Amino acid sequence: MNYQPKHLLVTGGAGFIGSNFVHYWLREYPDSQVTVLDALTYAGNLQNLRGIQNNKSYSFVHGDILDTALVEKLLHDASIDTLVHFAAESHVDRSILGPDAFLKTNIEGTHSLLKAAKKIWLDAGKTTHRFHHVSTDEVYGTLTLDAPAFTEQHQYLPNSPYAASKASLDHIVRSYHHTYGLNTTISNCSNNYGPYHFPEKLIPLIIVNCLEGKPLPIYGDGKQIRDWLYVEDHCRGIERILLNGKVGEVYNIGGNNEWTNIDIVTLVCQLMDIYHPHGAPHTQLITHVTDRPGHDRRYAIDATKIMDQLSYKPLETFETGIHKTVRWYLDNEEWWRGVMDNSYKKWLDKNYSDKKPRSQVTEF
Ligand code: NAD
Ligand code: TYD
Repeated sequence: MNYQPKHLLVTGGAGFIGSNFVHYWLREYPDSQVTVLDALTYAGNLQNLRGIQNNKSYSFVHGDILDTALVEKLLHDASIDTLVHFAAESHVDRSILGPDAFLKTNIEGTHSLLKAAKKIWLDAGKTTHRFHHVSTDEVYGTLTLDAPAFTEQHQYLPNSPYAASKASLDHIVRSYHHTYGLNTTISNCSNNYGPYHFPEKLIPLIIVNCLEGKPLPIYGDGKQIRDWLYVEDHCRGIERILLNGKVGEVYNIGGNNEWTNIDIVTLVCQLMDIYHPHGAPHTQLITHVTDRPGHDRRYAIDATKIMDQLSYKPLETFETGIHKTVRWYLDNEEWWRGVMDNSYKKWLDKNYSDKKPRSQVTEF
């Protein structure tokens, strides 16, 4: 082990992946300290961190990554040595309908963290520190069906405002390493799924809509391909990078698990038929709707580098991961009902009202 984080600042730790990471880290490293900084936007929820609120190794700060003075104070006063940066606006559809928040939070917010880290760590001569930036495979753009999967050398060709904002800040993070010597690492991961996934993203939306007997919206022909990774396997990848990753490097994280959207929705429907039978097969709820503008056709990650250099290996198969996930939503109805508040309902209206059904379904 090259590096052992003592006190982590986890931005966006009340969101989907951030909260899974905090649970994972505190379980694996109970002697380290974790401070979560989260603005609790629509996507952040303290319920995602339930069960650890009384853990002496954990503290929560309700605040914005744009508040550089607050970040400086946290890094300094708590002697934080490791920043793991998840906080972001993360939903492609929201970035299409309102890109401003993405540029502000993702680009300016990350730059605010970089400035604070430079001041508190570098300017004070603190050489033992890490700034890990959690990015996405979407920075690489889209692949044709037969193209090789994205390696770390793939050209950046982001297509949505979300992907473009993440691509910009990958470059900004890189520049803070090359110009100032900040100890940065970057991971670009494929689509995650698992517990605490906000039900605006495909898999939890489908599960929740099945449970509520609502239409299952498939954009366009549903033949778009995503490469799905169980969220805890993403957390394991970040762990490997923190402990053994080389400063200044970029690592792709993925599980070699490509699925078309229509196949994944059909699979979830089949699982719902088993776990939550409802008379008719859930596939009857599938509705093809108008496609997402600029919809990327295929993402696929080549994770050879992290596998070879950092001995990374996902532990969940897709079969075990998707069963766990469906079961989690069945067992945690209170959680998903809790996050589906008025603002969520307004979002559904905004996003789907102009997506006209291409085939009609009957609701249960
Ligand atoms: P999420 O939307 O579920 O959570 C984002 C969190 O950031 C929320 O808790 C939110 O309250 C917080 N946040 C937003 N703006 C903030 C601000 N200004 N200050 C402080 N906190 C703020 O996102 P996620 O799906 O957990 O993704 C986490 C990170 O991983 C993102 O950077 C995303 O780009 C990246 N990523 C996501 C996926 C995926 O499949 N979800 C895949 C690869 C990479
Ligand atoms: P999403 O979960 O939003 O992740 P991303 O856009 O970051 O890949 O969407 C995954 C795929 O599912 C994507 O190709 C868009 C598609 N999709 C639908 O077909 N219907 C939906 O209602 C949603 C939310 C997504």
